[in-house]
Amino acid sequence: MTRRSLIVGTGAYLPAKVVTNDDLARQMDTTDEWIQQRTGIRQRHVAAEGELTSHLAAKASEKALAQAGLKAADVDLIVLATTTPDETFPATATRVQAMLGITRGAAFDVQAVCAGFVYALAVADNFIKAGQAETALVIGAETFTRILDWNDRGTAVLFGDGAGAVVLKAAYGDRGVLSTHLHSDGRGHDALYVDGGPSSTGKVGVVKMQGKEVFRHAVSKLAQVIQEALDANGMKSEQIDWLVPHQANRRIIDGMADKFGLSKEKVVVTVDRHANTSAASVPLALDEAVGDGRIRPGQVVVLEAIGGGLAWGAALVRM
Ligand code: UT7
Repeated sequence: MTRRSLIVGTGAYLPAKVVTNDDLARQMDTTDEWIQQRTGIRQRHVAAEGELTSHLAAKASEKALAQAGLKAADVDLIVLATTTPDETFPATATRVQAMLGITRGAAFDVQAVCAGFVYALAVADNFIKAGQAETALVIGAETFTRILDWNDRGTAVLFGDGAGAVVLKAAYGDRGVLSTHLHSDGRGHDALYVDGGPSSTGKVGVVKMQGKEVFRHAVSKLAQVIQEALDANGMKSEQIDWLVPHQANRRIIDGMADKFGLSKEKVVVTVDRHANTSAASVPLALDEAVGDGRIRPGQVVVLEAIGGGLAWGAALVRM
């Protein structure tokens, strides 16, 4: 029997403060109509002062563990995907480890920006498959609004804060993570990056994006990697029960659904309420659809994401 990583719990946390498009239109030259038409976003959550990525991550993790019926002490691996760590070091995952009272195993961060959760899931899945971990917390958490340039309407309206987490447990059978597929191409750096960091400017910097360029890559690379995941498992798109895509733009999400012949009912969409929460977007969407009973045990789910790097990936999961 094959050793796999079974998703035994999901959890999410969104900061209390909600900022609508109209709120932003009072601050900058934009409109609710433009934002909704171009992106599908209606609002986003924004972390309070003093509310850090680790706080959001710990809250999402507690919920995921509760849903799994597991104790924090059961966890022997934490992989946290973030672009907005609390500090340059140590890894935000170690802060979360301490907050949860976990004193064994390993905790570290993964940086693949918006693709971060898919990368973190792949890392944790491989640890479990190799027998190096039994129970893993995989987290995507961001306070992304902290790295926005509020004078750039082309990016400031697109992002939000939040966290999502899943608990993976080693299991033998045909349920669990079936395969993960990761790609990156550093030639895409200029399309999406932050203009700073410890080794370059010594300052954190702000997001810079060539939106149309990223859009173009997103449509083609996500389609390729979803197809790669299907092929690796000898599956056809008709066998997909749910698409849980990265929530950057409604037009990209709809494009993927059309490409694979998936009806709107099979696609989990949160971009309207959460905006783009980078590494948190996929686990936030997954938790919503598991929580409200749409995604059920045994169903086939495709997770996908793309972001800065460029880095992208997909995972095929039997829940
Ligand atoms: O998570 C990482 C992955 N990121 C993505 O997937 C993002 C991919 N890109 C996109 O989602 C889209 O490219 C955007 C939503 C960012 C932009 O949509 P677009 O249709 O590509 O618009 P654009 O950047 O070409 O801008 C069109 C017009 C411009 O005006 P002109 O030059 O035509 O007069 C912009 O200045 O819209 C203007 N514009 C805005 N207007 C009102 C740009 N941002 C805004 C805004 N409000 N917030």
